[in-house]
Amino acid sequence: MDQIRIRGGRPLTGTVRIGGAKNAALPLMAACLLTDETLTLSNLPHLVDITTMANLLAGHGAEIRMQGEAGDGGHTGRTLSLHAGKITDTTAPYDLVRRMRASVLVLGPLVARTGHARVSLPGGCAIGTRPVDLHLKGLQQLGAEIELAEGYIEARAKGRLRGGHVLFPTVSVGATENLLMAAALAEGETVLANAAREPEIADLARCLIAMGAEIAGVGTDTLTVRGVERLHGARHEVVPDRIEAGTFAMAAAITRGDLELLGARAGLMESVVDKLCEAGVEISPTERGLRVACPGGVRGVDVMTEPFPGFPTDLQAQMTALMSVASGAAMITETIFENRFMHIPELARMGANVTVHNASSLVRGVGGLKGAPVMATDLRASASLVLAGLAAEGETVVSRVYHIDRGYERIEEKLAGCGADIERVTA
Ligand code: UD1
Repeated sequence: MDQIRIRGGRPLTGTVRIGGAKNAALPLMAACLLTDETLTLSNLPHLVDITTMANLLAGHGAEIRMQGEAGDGGHTGRTLSLHAGKITDTTAPYDLVRRMRASVLVLGPLVARTGHARVSLPGGCAIGTRPVDLHLKGLQQLGAEIELAEGYIEARAKGRLRGGHVLFPTVSVGATENLLMAAALAEGETVLANAAREPEIADLARCLIAMGAEIAGVGTDTLTVRGVERLHGARHEVVPDRIEAGTFAMAAAITRGDLELLGARAGLMESVVDKLCEAGVEISPTERGLRVACPGGVRGVDVMTEPFPGFPTDLQAQMTALMSVASGAAMITETIFENRFMHIPELARMGANVTVHNASSLVRGVGGLKGAPVMATDLRASASLVLAGLAAEGETVVSRVYHIDRGYERIEEKLAGCGADIERVTA
């Protein structure tokens, strides 16, 4: 199994290119199931989760071709064409769904297009129980019949789904995406109220509109969809990854570096930019992205995770690593997932001083961290351990890095490219 070995203490400098957003790419890929024409997606990151989604879609009958690699349109991302001319199988098997919860995003498109979907119920995961009840209730409100049997969700519709009013009791990114895709092909008008507003949802909506969907309220918490009988092919470029950009911004800050994030957009991550600036990080827009510098180190700031436009839960662990070397203390409160503090015992092994109480962690900044062998438990937790390793004195070895490969493209190469002493080794 691969490990990442880091010798800390080098400031990050130069430039790093931010890729396309994984969390936008996955629902966009699932949207290919809504049409018998070709959907072409560019600026796709090269990640394990993208391959998992491609395998899942291929199982439903989609033909997937890679059209281009590095350099396309100034991006490093890939271009894939996805063509689901005929849906040959409406089952999303356990073996793929258990590897990636976002597999559940095929549910809405499959039942909307074919009137049937059988999708393995995703289980819990390292960061919490993560139910899918909101996806299912929403689809029922659009006329789908849902049954749970043998670990699978069985969704059926007689003819087309029909428009309805769906009020989400909790903001859910995945449920909003599933319902948006399903409503695009439903008969009549659907209103999705208290919808998630993450930029990845607006990106999906823009792609659906390019495919012929009629959607109003994009970027707001109320999406109104007038269903159409069929959607057609389109080309769409995936929005930049604000979580990767935030992670690299924090990497620059924790090493007191000076880094330009090519392709990063402040407008996609205002809450993160604001918090980092409050902590003393200098962030300014450049022609090509964002420049992040932190010559004087950071001071402690309190952070609470919230649905967009609030501070993203997917940057909470990385922020904790940054705050562990701040001057002063920081209170970090997680409101989205119930068990997202698994990085803390590992950070403590490197000398971080963190006390967890219910959904909050009190991080008392320490003068410096010390390298140690640590273990990644989930995707964003592993990123926080890499950040800590970049700042720590001596050697840090992060094991179970397969988690990090799900969401960060060649993270060690990108970090080495801006001056970090980091390498991937096979244990
Ligand atoms: C997406 C992101 C993930 C991010 C999360 C929150 C993708 C592929 N993943 O996950 O990186 O951390 O948004 O920003 O885009 N919930 C329910 N019932 C449901 C659905 C969700 O109770 O049916 C709860 C969840 O347990 C969680 C909260 O709602 O507590 C938010 O989850 P949700 O926004 O749905 O997250 P995902 O779409 O799974």
